[in-house]
This record gives sequence, C-alpha cells and structure tokens, in this order.
Amino acid sequence: MHHLIYVSTATQPMSEDELMQLLQQSRRRNKSLKLTGMLLYKENHFMQVLEGDKNNVAEIYAKIEGDTRHKKLDVLRSEHITERNFPDWSMGFTNLRRWDLVNHEGFVPFLDKDFRSPFFKEHSIEAHALLLYFKNDPQT
Ligand SMILES: Cc1cc2nc3c(=O)[nH]c(=O)nc-3n(C[C@H](O)[C@H](O)[C@H](O)COP(=O)(O)O)c2cc1C
Repeated sequence: MHHLIYVSTATQPMSEDELMQLLQQSRRRNKSLKLTGMLLYKENHFMQVLEGDKNNVAEIYAKIEGDTRHKKLDVLRSEHITERNFPDWSMGFTNLRRWDLVNHEGFVPFLDKDFRSPFFKEHSIEAHALLLYFKNDPQT
C-alpha cells in the first residue's frame, strides 16, 4: 500500500458545479482501481492524498498531472503505508470556503496556512494530519 500527497493551483477558480463534476469523474475511476483518499480545495489551491496499490497511484497521478484544470503540482509525500487512512472514501472532498475557515479556526492545526506554504513541504506529516481531520467532517 502506498500514499501520495500533492498540492496544486487551479488554472481558473473552480465553481461548485465544476468541482462536483471533477469529483464524480474521480470517484468512478478510483473505485475501479481501488484507490481512496481525500481532496481539499481552498483559495484556488488543491491538496489531495491518493492511497492504494503503488502502480495504481502512479497511473492516476500521471493522469492528474496532465490535467489542465490545475498547474504547478508539487508532491509533498510519496511513501509506503501499512494500511489505508481513508478506507471509506473513493475520494472525500471538502471545499474550504471563508465561512468554514472561520468556523474551523483554532480547531484545525495549520488550516490558516497556504497549501503551498513551504511548511507543508517540510512537514508533510502535518499535510497528512490536515487531510485526516476532514475525513470525519467531509462536505460531500
Ligand atoms: C485536483 C484534481 C484531482 C483529481 N483527482 C482525481 C482522482 O482522484 N482520480 C481520478 O481518476 N481522476 C482525478 N482527476 C481527474 C484526472 O486528472 C483525469 O481527468 C481523469 O482521470 C479522467 O481521465 P480520462 O480522461 O482518461 O478519463 C483529478 C483532477 C484534478 C484537477
């Protein structure tokens, strides 16, 4: 079992409909490849964790990398794991809008940080912790 966490920047701001479409498409494919994970969207940036068989993660990541809906992909973490952290999510999702940010402030460590902050690159375990926080509090 393997997991990969990356951050990226949306090419254009994503509407709610566009995000839902992206999610539907992702879930369909992930189910067929037994991939699980979580996707966060905040202020035009994505943070995503993909977990599953190493070859399947690599296959989908290659597709994701070529997707013109986002750019400047940066892998924070790519490691062997002993078990899935998001077994129930073919792809969980939370759109962190301003309202959510205010509500979660003080409860979710490092939520105030930009996804692209060097902090998450240097401490990728905190990126993982942030994704894990939304596992039990997903929007969709
Ligand atoms: C931020 C982001 C996350 C994505 N996550 C996934 C994903 O988890 N699984 C997936 O199959 N596609 C995901 N996609 C979509 C892929 O880039 C690609 O469009 C999709 O795999 C369809 O490929 P196809 O054209 O070969 O059918 C994501 C795209 C973006 C922009």
